[in-house]
Amino acid sequence: MNDFVIETKQLTKIYGKQTVVSNVSLHVKKGRIYGLLGRNGAGKTTIMKMILGLTPITSGQVDVFGKNIKGQEKRVFPRIGAMIETPGFYPNLTGTENLEIFAKLRGTAAPHAVENALKVVGLPYKDKKLFGKYSLGMKQRLGIANAILHEPELLILDEPTNGLDPIGIAEVREFIKNLSTMCEKTILISSHILSEISLLADDIGIIDKGILLEESSMRELEKKNRRYVLLQVSDIPKASLILERQFGLKDYSVQDDHTIRLYDTSLDIAAINKALVVQDVAVIGSGLYNDSLEDYFKKITGGEGIA
Ligand SMILES: Nc1ncnc2c1ncn2[C@@H]1O[C@H](COP(=O)(O)OP(=O)(O)O)[C@@H](O)[C@H]1O
Ligand SMILES: [Mg+2]
Repeated sequence: MNDFVIETKQLTKIYGKQTVVSNVSLHVKKGRIYGLLGRNGAGKTTIMKMILGLTPITSGQVDVFGKNIKGQEKRVFPRIGAMIETPGFYPNLTGTENLEIFAKLRGTAAPHAVENALKVVGLPYKDKKLFGKYSLGMKQRLGIANAILHEPELLILDEPTNGLDPIGIAEVREFIKNLSTMCEKTILISSHILSEISLLADDIGIIDKGILLEESSMRELEKKNRRYVLLQVSDIPKASLILERQFGLKDYSVQDDHTIRLYDTSLDIAAINKALVVQDVAVIGSGLYNDSLEDYFKKITGGEGIA
């Protein structure tokens, strides 16, 4: 047994002749927030729909809680809460009334389920306002409240901050974080906004044109994009030896035959250059660099990037 709450294996979706999701293997770990990042049309919603059995899988497999969901939907779905695209509520009922209906439909027995769920997302209980008069932000909140009504272990939220203003985004981010840390839920969330995912997610999957380009922890990704001193030298082994012995450096990485990155940016570059040259290592170039996450995404998605 591994500790993946969701694992997709070579998940593929073809509409007509168009492959919109291609061999995607995601790994969502227990208790973590996994951010699926990709432009509009990348395939995020389709992946979530396949995980939830809302659209047929063309090929591949989805395991949830360690088992293939095929034929297991009834057993698995009560443990999942989801909001995919804009949720459908009755416009002529209040938010509370809407949730009460969904709670009943789902057989959610907990007496304060609706009140608690509304509290988590910051909406008033028993408020008179009809859903039809809700702002987009309130609609999104009610959608999330609906997803957490039955206290599921796993939450799947498709672009939950879509259309919200910056304050609304920050608030939604805050309570999603709380759901993860205080309520120990596993959360799969999608977004086309890099900053949103980078502020929220523990792990990230980058999807472009239906292909999972990268999957890693946010920490690893940030490490890749730290500020660093770049040294281009004639002799890497010798240079490494000098850096370690003379300067006590350990936090560096060798990029290719001539390039080293040093992650301690408080270094005395001039002293290092001098030491290398004195010991017959030619220094071809050196400088301080800072790859931003945004540059990185541009690079891996082939130019346009994700704003
Ligand atoms: N029901 C459908 N029929 C045909 N094509 C679809 C359908 N749903 C989505 N698509 C296409 O699949 C691709 C991925 O869509 P989607 O999963 O909604 O992307 P995202 O959620 O990342 O914006 C898009 O090109 C979209 O046009
Ligand atoms: Mg979508």
